[in-house]
Amino acid sequence: MKASIAVNGYGTIGKRVADAVSAQDDMKIIGVSKTKPDYEAKMAVHKGYDLYIAIPEREKLFDEAGIEIAGTTDDMIEKSDLVVDCTPGNVGPENLEKYKANGVKATYQGGEKHDLTGLSFNSIANYSDSVGMEYTRVVSCNTTGMARSLTPISKNWGIKKVRAVMVRRGGDPYQVNKGPINGIVPNPPKVPSHHGPDLETVLRGVDITTLALLVPTTLMHQHNLMVELENDAKIDDVIDVWEKRSRVLLLKAEDGLTSTAGFMEYAKELGRNRNDLYEIPIWRESVNVVDGELFYMQAVHQESDVVPENVDAIRALLELETDGEKSIAKTNKAMGIL
Ligand SMILES: NC(=O)c1ccc[n+]([C@@H]2O[C@H](COP(=O)([O-])OP(=O)(O)OC[C@H]3O[C@@H](n4cnc5c(N)ncnc54)[C@H](OP(=O)(O)O)[C@@H]3O)[C@@H](O)[C@H]2O)c1
Repeated sequence: MKASIAVNGYGTIGKRVADAVSAQDDMKIIGVSKTKPDYEAKMAVHKGYDLYIAIPEREKLFDEAGIEIAGTTDDMIEKSDLVVDCTPGNVGPENLEKYKANGVKATYQGGEKHDLTGLSFNSIANYSDSVGMEYTRVVSCNTTGMARSLTPISKNWGIKKVRAVMVRRGGDPYQVNKGPINGIVPNPPKVPSHHGPDLETVLRGVDITTLALLVPTTLMHQHNLMVELENDAKIDDVIDVWEKRSRVLLLKAEDGLTSTAGFMEYAKELGRNRNDLYEIPIWRESVNVVDGELFYMQAVHQESDVVPENVDAIRALLELETDGEKSIAKTNKAMGIL
């Protein structure tokens, strides 16, 4: 029997998670939730998802918009084995009380604090920590990107310390209220940014300091990493390890992939749902080892890289699969991830 999964918050991440869960053979979507009767609510119903409303007083607005609802978010929670909470950051604490009251497990997103669940998740770095637990938090898109490429480096050579400069997109493509920004914005204008401590919640013990900037683009984030290794590595061996690692892609500027715009065009050629790029692309030419220090540049499709991680987090919490690599392979196969 398939596990019953609810998606609380059908926005950028929630709608992608709903489709990703629907592609699996061991779980199914029993409902998704919205507060507003907008086009996303209409599309959810059009796709066949039962739609629940987070604010019961707004039922009339959904009626007037001709959108059929199946009940309130509370009804949806009651029917589920697990809720994937994809509401905006900081809505989570209030929802946690509801999940607890219903004895329902939940996964959260990176907009919530680690303390909310006391447990954070990345499929490659620490799948086993969440097996059989009640609540976990899939770390942010940026942290997921770093955890993907750094975990195999840590396992193979050991990491003394990481320094990373993160060039972040100003907003998601639809967020007209966030752009265009005319300038380069240190964000935050202090060191370190929160990304380093966030990585430590999944890649325990790693010594990392991060600096972050916002720039006028909506397409992807871009990371520049400097990694002091415990044991000297050869460039070809590092490349070999990443080539064997799924969810990380080595792509070449030489092939015309000279920018994040190129990566997004490449994603379109892959012909995936919403042109998403679930993998973390690393520029092959950027990989270098100088005096025991590894350097590389990578990018993150902020709207989609955390989506397969959410599927794996569901499997871990519900113990549908206790072996992380088996879950990763299963999710990858269902979603066509390289
Ligand atoms: N977008 C990214 O790049 C990205 C990447 C990784 C992680 N995340 C994290 O993922 C989470 C969701 O972000 P998002 O970008 O998907 O946000 P989003 O696009 O704004 O979607 C949020 C969804 O939650 C719904 N919602 C709002 N208040 C709610 C409530 N009280 N109860 C139930 N649903 C509610 C909204 O519905 P209405 O529209 O109907 O109000 C909307 O469908 C955040 O923690 C964020 O930090 C985002």
